[in-house]
Amino acid sequence: MAEDPVNVNEYQELARQALPKMYYDFYAGGAEDQYTLKENVEAFRRIMFRPRVLIDVSKISLSTTILGYNVSAPIMIAPTSMHKLAHPEGEVATARAAAACNVIMIVSYSSMCTVEEVASSCDAIRFFQIYVYKRRDITAQLVRRAERSGYKAIVLTVDVPRLGKREADIKNNLGTVKLSLSFYDRMIQPQLKNFEGLLPTQVVSDEGSNFKAYADLTLDASLSWKDIGWLRSITKLPILIKGVLTHEDAIKAVEAGAAGIVVSNHGARQLDHTPATISVLEEVVHAVKGKVPVFVDGGVRRGTDIFKALALGAQAVLIGRPVVYGLAAKGETGVRRVTEMLKDELELTMALSGCPTIKDITRGHVITDRERLQ
Ligand code: FNR
Repeated sequence: MAEDPVNVNEYQELARQALPKMYYDFYAGGAEDQYTLKENVEAFRRIMFRPRVLIDVSKISLSTTILGYNVSAPIMIAPTSMHKLAHPEGEVATARAAAACNVIMIVSYSSMCTVEEVASSCDAIRFFQIYVYKRRDITAQLVRRAERSGYKAIVLTVDVPRLGKREADIKNNLGTVKLSLSFYDRMIQPQLKNFEGLLPTQVVSDEGSNFKAYADLTLDASLSWKDIGWLRSITKLPILIKGVLTHEDAIKAVEAGAAGIVVSNHGARQLDHTPATISVLEEVVHAVKGKVPVFVDGGVRRGTDIFKALALGAQAVLIGRPVVYGLAAKGETGVRRVTEMLKDELELTMALSGCPTIKDITRGHVITDRERLQ
């Protein structure tokens, strides 16, 4: 492969070469047979363009607003855990890249830099993703810490009452540092720094994935719709609900007071055989009726994918694995390159489709496979 990738997919191979197998598998893997993992990507390919010609596209603007914040493009960095497994600077490097590109970073609850460290490292616009733990006091403390550190929204992830069955992590006994020949110097004990002094920052079990052992210990599987009221009572920040896949749940999310919805199947890491997110986006958009913004993630690997998501009603997309691959391959620079590549591709797609601004992208610019077969 050429030294410099020309698209974000090529960062995956660089990440594979850079990382110990255990960590690469953790980032790349999905649940069980990984049907949905492939489908998230494939479903984008089944959507075609209906480009318009003879429109002045000599100037293209990707800029837009997300929850009122001006950003350079309809792209956010998805919350992904444990960035120090990818690069020693961890989430701080990712945040600096987000700031440089003027895109929003959603910092994971399971980060390896604390919410405060990320906040003080740069002036990126940051949202904070949370899980609700059995020990609600810990979740409440983290929400308060994020609020104090200038995070602008809470993203409540709702598709992890328990951790999905990630078979590579089970086989690799994820989180147990073994003497691994060439990568020994890159192996570190994954520690969830936000919980220092509150909980063990790691759990080591003899068998299977330690990440799963940690999740079993902490996650509150009894979380339900009524608890959104509790969350709203402890923060003034807007709350986005991440992990919605049906119109039924989209309506409940709006009723519960969500300020936005993220259509997501957790990058296919939870319930295998959920549909590709792009194929259920419109169902959610129609149900929400414009009351709150809808975002989507899962399988976004090209600027064309971003355009398709916007045409089907998303206000922005979240990028998961490509960011981590960029981080693993080249640190902060890698995350910047991945983000810039997606922006450049989106800009070109807009020019070739006859859409000088984000607002010009409409439902009529794409045709789905279902429509083509009718
Ligand atoms: C995730 N995701 C995730 N989501 C979340 O809400 N909190 C988290 O801590 C994590 N951690 C995490 C780790 C890794 C390695 C991956 C790949 C994913 C899910 C993430 O936010 C997002 O939904 C998907 O990654 C989007 O799919 P793509 O872009 O990876 O295909």
